[in-house]
Amino acid sequence: MSTRTVLITGASSGIGEATARHFLAAGWNVAACMRSPARHSFDADSAHLAVLRMDVTDEASIASATEAAMQRFGAIDVLVNNAGYALLGPLEGLSATQLRRQLETNLVGLVAVTQHVLPGMRARRTGVIVNIASIGGRMGFPFAAAYHATKFAVEGLSESMRFELQAHGIRVKVIEPGPIRTNFLGGSAEWAGHEAYAVEMAKFRTMSDRLNATLPTPGRVAAVVFRAATDGSDRLRYPAAAGPFPLLHRLLPDALWRRLIMHELARRSR
Ligand SMILES: NC(=O)c1ccc[n+]([C@@H]2O[C@H](COP(=O)([O-])OP(=O)(O)OC[C@H]3O[C@@H](n4cnc5c(N)ncnc54)[C@H](OP(=O)(O)O)[C@@H]3O)[C@@H](O)[C@H]2O)c1
Repeated sequence: MSTRTVLITGASSGIGEATARHFLAAGWNVAACMRSPARHSFDADSAHLAVLRMDVTDEASIASATEAAMQRFGAIDVLVNNAGYALLGPLEGLSATQLRRQLETNLVGLVAVTQHVLPGMRARRTGVIVNIASIGGRMGFPFAAAYHATKFAVEGLSESMRFELQAHGIRVKVIEPGPIRTNFLGGSAEWAGHEAYAVEMAKFRTMSDRLNATLPTPGRVAAVVFRAATDGSDRLRYPAAAGPFPLLHRLLPDALWRRLIMHELARRSR
């Protein structure tokens, strides 16, 4: 079989970077897309690597990066829609601009990249779209309403599009990571505030700062992305380093679940 090609968005750090390294190590061609290619830390001499500029909110950069990847490697076999960030803070403190930027990146951008890659996959009647959602696409935690809205949306659109794409030979996968140690909770997150929530928000920030250092590394998620892309199955959802919350959320009655989350927030911020 000829060398297969994966295109990954947001490959400059975290889960995207780890995924790019995992596919490279497995002998794939990798189109590693990122907003600032000058800052990448890959071995630029690899014949299997193309580092391409792509901002998922900029249609022209999506068009030129996907075109460059196809010119360089012939076709895109797997698309990993990974680029994203979290807008955190109380819903009442979100500006419309912040909310739109969150939706433009995590949702509209994901759709735009997918739309640029699908014609090539349809023409060849094969391909896999891997969407990086989150356990936060299945359950909501405090002070992340906008982020959850985007990840619930990614779950819903993935579940719907897989029916449309089945007849074209294209499979859809959703990866649901738990909290992972990346720039996600640190530099990448955008914070909104509101005075009425200042005390609880301070606890939330203490908790998230502490949490980050203890989390699993993104390589755990990269291995799951690779499995989803290559297992040949029609399975849709893949939890990744998800911890106990998905099971608890499924099993506990809502009143108990709510108490557990509030208890954990208080405990981890003391
Ligand atoms: N870490 C977690 O706990 C966790 C859990 C569940 C799901 N996830 C999801 O995993 C994905 C990757 O996040 P991460 O944890 O690896 O965080 P990260 O280290 O902050 O990586 C996020 C990546 O997305 C890129 N990005 C952000 N906005 C972009 C845009 N407009 N266009 C193109 N790229 C953009 C960033 O690029 P720059 O370097 O240019 O900023 C970076 O490469 C996200 O979709 C996130 O929601 C993360």
